[in-house]
Amino acid sequence: ALVSMKEMLNKGLKEGYAVGQFNINNLEWTQAILNAAQEEQSPVILGVSEGAARYMGGFSVITAFVKALIEEGKITVPVAIHLDHGSSVEKCKAAIDAGFTSVMIDASHHPFEENVQATKEVVEYAHARGVSVEAELGTVGGQEDDVVADGVIYADPQECKQLVERTGIDCLAPALGSVHGPYKGEPKLGFKEMEEICNTAGVPLVLHGGTGIPTEQIKKSISLGTAKINVNTENQIAFTKAVREVLANDSKVYDPRKFIGPGRDAIKATVIGKMREFGSSGKA
Ligand code: G3H
Ligand code: ZN
Repeated sequence: ALVSMKEMLNKGLKEGYAVGQFNINNLEWTQAILNAAQEEQSPVILGVSEGAARYMGGFSVITAFVKALIEEGKITVPVAIHLDHGSSVEKCKAAIDAGFTSVMIDASHHPFEENVQATKEVVEYAHARGVSVEAELGTVGGQEDDVVADGVIYADPQECKQLVERTGIDCLAPALGSVHGPYKGEPKLGFKEMEEICNTAGVPLVLHGGTGIPTEQIKKSISLGTAKINVNTENQIAFTKAVREVLANDSKVYDPRKFIGPGRDAIKATVIGKMREFGSSGKA
C-alpha cells in the first residue's frame, strides 16, 4: 500500500530498526525493490532524486508505474514514494501534486532562517495532503571529496532542535560526516552529535550516504535514533557489475532482458541484504 513515511519511521524508532530508502532509476529498479520488500515483509521507501525523475520522464510517470506495480505485483507492505533532496518548495509541491507520498526539502545549503522558512512552507502544503516531510541540516559529503568528512559541515544540535520545533517536520537528516557515493576509508560519523540530536530533536533521524557504512556503525546509528537509511550507490554498483558480467561473457547477446534481468536480480539481492541489516525485515 502507498503510504507516507510518518508511521513507518515512528514505528522503526520505537522498535529499534531503520527503514531503507532505495533510490530508483527505472522500471526494473522499482520492481526489484518492491519485490524485495514484499518477500522480506519489510516497509520500504522508494527514493527519487530530481535527476532520476527527469530521466524517467517526470513525477507523474513515476507515481503511475509505481501504483501499477504495487497493484499487479500484489505488494501489500507499506511503500512510500519519496522525493530525495528536493531543491525547492516548488519542486516539492510538484511531486506532491503528482502523487508522491513523501518529500525531502533540502535547503541545507541556505542560511538557517531560509532553511526554516522553506521547510515550513513545504510542511504546511504536505501535511494538509497527508504527505510526510524530511529536512536536512549541515552538509553531506560528496563522492568527489578526497578526504572523508573534510569540508563536510556537521549539523548543529541546537539548530536541529529549532528546525524540528519551528517546522513540524516528520524526520530530520543531520549531516554528521556521511558521504554520497563510495567512502575513501572508514566513515567517521559524529555519534556524539547524533546522540545529542536524537535526545533533543524528538523525531526519527535519517542517515544519508548509506553505501559503504560498516554494519557496526549502522547498528550504532539505529541505536541513536536513526530510523531511515538512504542507499543508492550500492545498488548501482551491484546492477552494473551483473550487467557487465553478462555482456563481457557473451558478445552475441542483444536481447536487453538477458542482461538487464540479471542486473535487476542483483539489486533485489542487495536490497534484501540491507533490509536484514537494518532490521526492517518482518516489520511490515
Ligand atoms: O540521498 C541518497 C543517499 O543519501 C544515497 O547515498 O549513494 O552513498 O548510498 P549513497
Ligand atoms: Zn542523500
